[in-house]
Amino acid sequence: MAKVTLSTLLEMKKSGEKFTCLTAYDSTHAHLVSSQGVDVILVGDSLGNVCQGQTSTVPVTVDDMCYHTRNVSMKAGDAMVMSDLPFASYTNEQQALTNSTRLMQAGAEMVKLEGEAWLVPIVSRLREQGIPSCVHLGLTPQSVHVLGGYKVQGRDQARANAMIEASIALEKAGAAILLLECVPSALAREITRAVQIPVIGIGAGADTDGQVLVIYDMLDMTPGRKPKFVKNFMTAAGAMAAGQGSVQQGVAAYVKEVKDGTFPGPEHGFE
Ligand code: KIV
Repeated sequence: MAKVTLSTLLEMKKSGEKFTCLTAYDSTHAHLVSSQGVDVILVGDSLGNVCQGQTSTVPVTVDDMCYHTRNVSMKAGDAMVMSDLPFASYTNEQQALTNSTRLMQAGAEMVKLEGEAWLVPIVSRLREQGIPSCVHLGLTPQSVHVLGGYKVQGRDQARANAMIEASIALEKAGAAILLLECVPSALAREITRAVQIPVIGIGAGADTDGQVLVIYDMLDMTPGRKPKFVKNFMTAAGAMAAGQGSVQQGVAAYVKEVKDGTFPGPEHGFE
């Protein structure tokens, strides 16, 4: 596999080839996913939940993100590394630029921010400074205390329209990618068609350009109840067919199923 860049993802969108993204928080998992052909590694602030044992991503700091980004970037191979700007670390253009610079210098190749239209000037400033950004819309976990829980977003027409308009404005401002979490599949399809930039989905149906999952969820390592959009790839046909059920087989099954359109199925999406 050649090094994955933004041009690779744009080409994939044009040709209709789905791209894959998984989270990783350390060099071992970075090597695991890149060696199985995952296109993008997300150093997600979900590390607050899965590495630190927090109940939300709110306590995660820029120092935490830099530490994990550095470790992932050591063994990311050809995969692109995208890192989350954590809670309240991008409240204005200068703060976003300062903290994005830290993430890029720790090894990120793109930063991810949660929000909608209010991010337009921030995204534009980052772009001017050579920092590509991914805007995460829909269920934005850093705002869990405002949203009142982890709930599907955009079911009412006003919210759906606001998300569509914000997506178009963010593309114009220079966003490199969009990420939609827990939005109705029909809305995700509309947004994906409305913009030229690649759109990644999680709980957003099968019609986005790429898919992302938290690695511990899809390897069935997360205790307790899983969100509806998660599939256990340790028991997926691809992993078991080889008779091994190894984590390598689990990640390979995920890559295969996203590429051939088997995952996500309708049961993983929302109406
Ligand atoms: O932090 C994270 O892992 C994420 C994914 C859930 C998309 O933002």
